Amino acid sequence: MNTISSNFSLKNYNTFNIDVKSDKFISINTEDQLLDFLPKNKDEDNIFFLGGGSNVLFSKDYKGTIVHISIKGKKIIEESNDNIIIEVNSGENWHEFVLFCVNSGYGGVENLSLIPGNVGTSPIQNIGAYGVELKDVFDSCIVVDKLSLKSKQLNLTDCRFDYRDSIFKNEAKGKYIITEVVFKLTKKNHELNTSYGAINTVLLEKGITNPSLKDVSNAVIKIRQEKLPDPNVIGNSGSFFKNPVVSKQEFDMLQARFEDIPFYPISENEIKIPAGWLIEQAGFKGKRFGDAGVHDRQALVLVNHGNATGEEIWLLAKKIQQEISRIFQVTIEPEVNLI
Ligand code: EPU
Repeated sequence: MNTISSNFSLKNYNTFNIDVKSDKFISINTEDQLLDFLPKNKDEDNIFFLGGGSNVLFSKDYKGTIVHISIKGKKIIEESNDNIIIEVNSGENWHEFVLFCVNSGYGGVENLSLIPGNVGTSPIQNIGAYGVELKDVFDSCIVVDKLSLKSKQLNLTDCRFDYRDSIFKNEAKGKYIITEVVFKLTKKNHELNTSYGAINTVLLEKGITNPSLKDVSNAVIKIRQEKLPDPNVIGNSGSFFKNPVVSKQEFDMLQARFEDIPFYPISENEIKIPAGWLIEQAGFKGKRFGDAGVHDRQALVLVNHGNATGEEIWLLAKKIQQEISRIFQVTIEPEVNLI
């Protein structure tokens, strides 16, 4: 275990690249280290367990201990001619895991290429992109209960996945540490999901009619690289807000005022609106307030142009929220966790 006792900069541990410090920083590399750490720190209030840092915004120095979960490794649990069940430790980088699957011929995660962050945090917000969500490939996950120190396995139903949501953001918030995620992937007869318009366009442009896992993954990578900023170049945490869901009645009123409004019906009475469209219409796309800004190719993404503080980014988020509420009477909620 690697303990740095004071004033540890978290700049390289959050994809917004916010330069805050934590009193203490500990890297946990094995499950044994975790089980050794937890009882000794049971009564500590100010402990934050950090994964890939791709969904957090640090607004100030952290007065406490940051525990960086960095447990690596993966193993095959079960394999048939058709499917494979694979258990992946939480500290594995998400995109590297996707590439491993694509290169090994394991299907299911290719649409989730290039999502920043680690495997262990993927269930928390049920990561999703281009028509696929984590829940579609999820078998179960192993968690350690912070109080009882017991491990248990949670299956698909236990996790109560929904759009950018799970039990880990609700009833079980702060209760568990996810140590492994178990995936169920296909080895043949892959169910490729290329229905998302932009994927089809890229494949057509390349003249690909019978795409492989690699083709789909490459198409997703191309789309993301064109639209979304690379956190290694410009700090960001992907979509800052969730796409809001409104009732049919609210939507009809909006559509009467804004006839071009894009939308996705999700049930008889629920309609999802792209927050990026709302933010663009409100005039924020590409705008910059000091070093805090709104990405110029996808308005849903807030960016750190260099030395923005977490507070500056949060203030910008608040300003956007207020404007959206004023113009459209729609509430947009952050997807990112403010620490
Ligand atoms: N749009 C605009 N202006 C913008 C951005 C979007 O008008 O600046 C409109 C366009 O009409 C566009 C529509 O919004 O057709 C949808 O845009 P996009 O396909 O980029 O998807 P999104 O709804 O903005 C969601 C996810 C992304 C994911 C994409 C693709 C959320 C909060 N975000 O974005 O996830 O990559 O779909 O599936 O659901 C992430 O979570 O970090 C992330 C990037």
